[in-house]
Amino acid sequence: MTLQISPEEQHEKVRTVVYATAQAAAEALAREVRELIERKNAAGEMAVLGLATGSTPVPFYRELIRLYREEGLSFRKVVTFNLDEYYGLNREHRESYYRFMREQLFDHIDIPPEHVNLPDGMVPLERVFEHCAEYEKRIVDAGGIDLQILGIGRTGHIGFNEPGSSRDSLTRLVPLDRVTRQDAAADFLGEDNVPRFAITMGVGTILRAKRLVLMAWGENKSEIVARAVEGEENEAVSASFLQSHGDARFLIDRAASNALTRIKLPWLVGRAEWTPQETRRAVCWLALRESKPILKLVDEEYNENGMGELLTRKGGGYELNIEIFNRQHHTITGWPGGKPDADDRQRPERASPHPKVCLVFSPEPQDDVMGMGGTIERLVSQGHRVHVVHMASGDLRVTDSEALRFVRVLQETSEIDPARWAEADRYATGVIEEIGAKGPFGDPPRRLRDLKSLIRRGEARDAAAALGVEAANVHFLDLPFYAEGRYRQFRLSSKDAARVGAILDRLQPHQIYITGDLADPSSVQGVAFAAFRQAWQEREKSAWRAHCRVWLYRGHQKEFQPHEIQMAVPMSPDQMARKIGAMHRFLSHNVADLLSGERNRATARLYDELGMPEYEAVEAFRSWVS
Ligand code: F6R
Repeated sequence: MTLQISPEEQHEKVRTVVYATAQAAAEALAREVRELIERKNAAGEMAVLGLATGSTPVPFYRELIRLYREEGLSFRKVVTFNLDEYYGLNREHRESYYRFMREQLFDHIDIPPEHVNLPDGMVPLERVFEHCAEYEKRIVDAGGIDLQILGIGRTGHIGFNEPGSSRDSLTRLVPLDRVTRQDAAADFLGEDNVPRFAITMGVGTILRAKRLVLMAWGENKSEIVARAVEGEENEAVSASFLQSHGDARFLIDRAASNALTRIKLPWLVGRAEWTPQETRRAVCWLALRESKPILKLVDEEYNENGMGELLTRKGGGYELNIEIFNRQHHTITGWPGGKPDADDRQRPERASPHPKVCLVFSPEPQDDVMGMGGTIERLVSQGHRVHVVHMASGDLRVTDSEALRFVRVLQETSEIDPARWAEADRYATGVIEEIGAKGPFGDPPRRLRDLKSLIRRGEARDAAAALGVEAANVHFLDLPFYAEGRYRQFRLSSKDAARVGAILDRLQPHQIYITGDLADPSSVQGVAFAAFRQAWQEREKSAWRAHCRVWLYRGHQKEFQPHEIQMAVPMSPDQMARKIGAMHRFLSHNVADLLSGERNRATARLYDELGMPEYEAVEAFRSWVS
């Protein structure tokens, strides 16, 4: 198949289709699979599908289930081969891919169990080689894979083909990369519990499929998608090998497309519209590329980088430099809630009313502090009424050992006065027994989840107090999608939006801070944001909404680029130290590399490089347009 590309896609070496949402992409892919199944079955053949696990295919599997239930699509004549399985996990293990596939798809459709194939994670070491060879043979005997579904890891892996996997590698036992294990840490209650090895189809196995479709959602995947699509085809990024397959496609949502040249640097592919936003993006990009502050850029540099037309419109580089410098400079404010009685025409936030009711939504406890701890502290000290609203309880990240520590303290306390504390002692003993009975990976009973959620509450209150927020203003919504769910398997319901809506109605904020707008839609941040969006839309006619501004911040997600920032709140070294102190209150969930505050320092460095004042650290925000 020859690749028909438009000029704007000229940097893309494999067909890449960008959908408005992951849901739209998943629906289109499910329709394609339906056609494939029906075509093959009509010809009297089985349809052979290659399947993936992880968060990415979840919306696609839900759509397949819908087609089965509502539109009569049958899977009786479908054979499946999964890409991989963790080594050392038995099929009933909570995190085994076998169990994942049953829960997410197989148990809900009419596929005969004997048509389902996954590598066996429990095969003894001495039999692994043979097992892998048999897996390869089974694929060949089935007539080869008609359509292989893929996700992409942050290392660029497909299946578990980590960097270094060769183009013709076959099914085999592989060690998992550190980044991959970190990404699985939430599923396994900590990185240490994540298996070190997996059995995966090889790159060569995958490339033999007749058609390949790789899906990716959310901004955190954007950089690796761009490398796979536009970079060199080589072993450093396994997904880049799709480039030389005759029938491969990337299906991505808008957030995952953000680092593609056509989106990131549209003027280089002749698609620039030179909106104010695009212009700022281009000038900031040029300054960073030339390692020069904005005010020192010269006409030649603009011309040499495809921005000659922009210069003509603006009357020259000097005028353009000043315009963008001023716009960037005006994003900086020490008054995130607005400066009372000041002329606010050039400021990111309105001066009045003062004080404001500020509502900080934190999808999981710690997002708020990580993303905007310094800003929370400022808002409080500038007299605003700051409420922190924790959306999901976060209990799934609390380790059993943390829970044990708490109940042991309770047990020991009860020894002081056994008669009065008998009930507490019984409770503690019960929890200890439950932890023992479920083992490291059993499903946590409700009572244990409740305890873990209290542990996180305590930490969240402590962290908020360190930033000056009153305990009465720290709220816990315990959104049902999380309370009733598991990582990668969350499902939004109207109950979630109703709970978010209730607190909006009660507090009637002037400012809302939230994150998750460009997250993977199956992640906690993605689902929590969807709940907020729904609640917000349902309140279109509420009087308070007309006076409320929504600011987006970044926590776990990729930090904003300078040109995206509409409010930059600087921090002094002391403020930064206090923020880090607040982050350390989260003992039960330690994300070491996020605790350093390095992201805020990196944003400050970028501002410095653009010729803005040099700060220790900067927290960044952009306003949300619903
Ligand atoms: C899963 C697999 C992996 C995932 C990838 C992305 O069977 O082989 O390559 O597709 O790690 O994972 P998620 O979708 O969870 O981001």
